[in-house]
Amino acid sequence: MTSNILDQLIGNFLGFTDRYRRDCVLEPMLRLKLEHTLRVVADSRTITSGMNWPENEVCLAEAIGLFHDIARFPQFQKYRSFNDSKTIDHGDLGFQTLEKEKLLARVDDEERSLILSSVQYHNKRDLPPALTANEEKYLRLIRDADRLDIFFISWDSVQSGQIHDHPEIGLNIDFNGPPTDAVLDQFECEGTIDYRNMKSMADRFVLQLSWMHDLSYDSTKRLVRDRKILEKFIDVLPVKTDRLLNCFEKTAALLETV
Ligand SMILES: [Fe+2]
Repeated sequence: MTSNILDQLIGNFLGFTDRYRRDCVLEPMLRLKLEHTLRVVADSRTITSGMNWPENEVCLAEAIGLFHDIARFPQFQKYRSFNDSKTIDHGDLGFQTLEKEKLLARVDDEERSLILSSVQYHNKRDLPPALTANEEKYLRLIRDADRLDIFFISWDSVQSGQIHDHPEIGLNIDFNGPPTDAVLDQFECEGTIDYRNMKSMADRFVLQLSWMHDLSYDSTKRLVRDRKILEKFIDVLPVKTDRLLNCFEKTAALLETV
């Protein structure tokens, strides 16, 4: 993808999101999603540059970052919620929105199909089977870039006291509660953490440690390490038990290997 096409896509994206402004202003929940998107675009460039991807591939990765959460705008307008399980899958809706709005009209067929598959599957629990090598490469990239920013948001929302502006993080949890044994068990066994077991903010942080072990690219892990995300998490942890701190040590050891 050329930088000219990427610039056009940025224009398309901003034109689309402008339709959700009232008196030129985006409501706060949508503003947070726009800011998240812009950081994911920047992180997509940083991660791929760290692996020396050629410039045309870096631009394609940025375009995927740009559109990965496009569905959040129509989703929130219709349902007033970002809860996919109670509303609509925002990866699938993103695919449909890009097609319906013809936002990728100037993109060539192969790149359009890579953007569509990455947007559709970026939020699925597991990678879908039967991806092409290129689909998998870009899908893994957007999943890494998205999670890298979610690490930032989680820390920032606690340290700034804005956790309740993020209902997808802060809803229905006992903020000061201890980590849950079932969540720690799953982390220690390197299993998938069952969201239904999560009760506290400490559990939320353990979930994010499990995501760090699941990052695809060493370049992303280096950014987690260099941005001192673990140290930032520990700073704002509402409770610090030995078992919880062991999870951090295990993750720090992983990050030291890249
Ligand atoms: Fe998303």
